[in-house]
Amino acid sequence: MMQVYVRDSQAEANDLAAHLVVEAVRSGARVLGLATGQTMIGVYAALVAQVRADRIATERWTTFNLDEYVGIGPDHPGSFHHFMTTHLFRPLGLGPQQSHLLNGLAPDLEAECNRFERLVMASPPDVQILGIGQNGHIGFNEPGTPWDSGTHRVTLTAATIAQNAPDFPGSMPREALTMGIGTILMARAIIVVATGAAKAPAVYRAVREEPSLEVPASALRLHPDVRYVLDTAAAERLFSDPRWDRAASVVEID
Ligand code: F6R
Repeated sequence: MMQVYVRDSQAEANDLAAHLVVEAVRSGARVLGLATGQTMIGVYAALVAQVRADRIATERWTTFNLDEYVGIGPDHPGSFHHFMTTHLFRPLGLGPQQSHLLNGLAPDLEAECNRFERLVMASPPDVQILGIGQNGHIGFNEPGTPWDSGTHRVTLTAATIAQNAPDFPGSMPREALTMGIGTILMARAIIVVATGAAKAPAVYRAVREEPSLEVPASALRLHPDVRYVLDTAAAERLFSDPRWDRAASVVEID
């Protein structure tokens, strides 16, 4: 089942996403799947604030990140590892033994993908946080990726390079390693956060159109516990659907 939450502002959506993660942790979640990107900056700021305010213990958390660029390491300011250190690991004091990321500098990238896949399969996330690309990608699973895919190496599409290059310090890598759609679907619960008008078409396609390989996020319709957390801008296309109850704070979709 899928639930769609819409909040009036990005800040409120971020707070709700963080609240849902904290609630999951309170209910026993210890393994968190994590995403990076612009959307996650506000989500992690809200999560850090709530964890601190509620004095939530993080010592027993284990985290897995979705993806990493090929050819750059944790110290590179454009790497997802660096992003995580800045926005979540350092503020919450999560140590390297708790936080698993793909190594984009591994000499054998295929072996690195297999190592990571085995690790995730041994203890899949209790909660996986996702962002969504404007083309509907999740992780770096671009349109056309099989839904049973495991962790693998990808060549980034022109659309994804165009989306991420403005924020990338230096020249943008052309390849990445990513959990597959099959890997992502192993999580017990999934929270997708999307804010801003640029995400409205992808959100609509993922939530309302027939599932298709062309929209990787539509694979989430196969999962029994998915929550979308949106601001009104990202939900705009859903609102244009006459079946949509705009006044509802959460809409359930089978
Ligand atoms: C990054 C990731 C990507 C992003 C997506 C949205 O780890 O998994 O799928 O979630 O590209 O990125 P932003 O939030 O920058 O729009």
